[in-house]
Amino acid sequence: EKGTYPHYMLKEIDEQPLVMRKIIQTYQNEQGELTINPEIISAMNESDRVYIIAAGTSYHAGLVGKQFIEGIAKLPVEVHIASEFVYNMPLLTEKPLFIFISQSGETADSRAVLVKVKEMGYRTLTITNVPGSTLSREAEYTLLLHAGPEIAVASSKAYTAQLAVLAILAEVTAKSQNIRVDFDLVHELGIIANAMEVLCDSKELFEHISREFLSVTRNAFFIGRGVDYYVCLEGALKLKEISYIQAEGFAGGELKHGTIALIEEGTPIIALATQESVNLSIRGNVKEVVARGANPCIISMKGLNMDEDSFVIPEVHELLTPLISVIPMQLIAYYAALHRDCDVDKPRNLAKSVTVE
Ligand code: M6R
Repeated sequence: EKGTYPHYMLKEIDEQPLVMRKIIQTYQNEQGELTINPEIISAMNESDRVYIIAAGTSYHAGLVGKQFIEGIAKLPVEVHIASEFVYNMPLLTEKPLFIFISQSGETADSRAVLVKVKEMGYRTLTITNVPGSTLSREAEYTLLLHAGPEIAVASSKAYTAQLAVLAILAEVTAKSQNIRVDFDLVHELGIIANAMEVLCDSKELFEHISREFLSVTRNAFFIGRGVDYYVCLEGALKLKEISYIQAEGFAGGELKHGTIALIEEGTPIIALATQESVNLSIRGNVKEVVARGANPCIISMKGLNMDEDSFVIPEVHELLTPLISVIPMQLIAYYAALHRDCDVDKPRNLAKSVTVE
């Protein structure tokens, strides 16, 4: 039940710190170490490449998951949109492991791939929020998100839960191979949960940002580099889905290859800057669009922030920033939908799970 909340989406955004703590607790053993079913870890270790298959928000989580698994466990990963993969299969390696990411566990596009790769004899793992769901029943293994029911059509807490579980999978795999992990994930996820709380307590600011940048516009651009780009894809999807503002997530450096032609006087640009290595270059991209009249809203991480930024997120481990930088995106989209009188929890033309291909 949504209790005193006006919408499920807002409740689910607010639940994210709790979900983080639940995930840490559930995936910890008595010694306080993160653990995962050893058969799943063997499947990871026996594979020469992971293929992540998903749709929508879960696909965006997969893109970040690739960074985690490659960065922490040093295992190559490809991420594919389920509806494309099913008829446009890439050349597979010898020992692929397929990971299906799906909040509902019912997405028909993902299931079509699962059926096909099972026929081909490949190993499969589903990461889902719903125990007993189709994708969970039909895959060899399942990892659960423990995020509690997600009712709003726009996914929020499932995305951050997916990222946390993917990070844990990466860490446990790395440790099983004696690959050095130079941070303590339990500790870092605890910091994430606290940072999420800070962001959820800043709703007025996000309402204000949303009013300033999005209450009258026809379109909006989200730009970032590296993992920030992936979070921008998710930010744009959230905004489109519930506020009907045409939005695009773009890699900062790619704008000038065409899309910059769309920038007009007042076009809102939401830029993410959480990665030290690209902080200056993304700010260079912001200057390029500002010179063409864009209205910039920069969201940066503490330590990388500059005077002109609209919001500074608390500092967390650089690899894990998507777990918190997405929250401003969720809240900005939520308030944009409110300001435009849209049906936040049940946007037009959409269903919570897409059970047709
Ligand atoms: O249940 P799934 O994670 O498989 O759903 C995939 C997409 O349909 C879903 O993430 C969709 O994009 C959301 N409504 C986005 O907020």
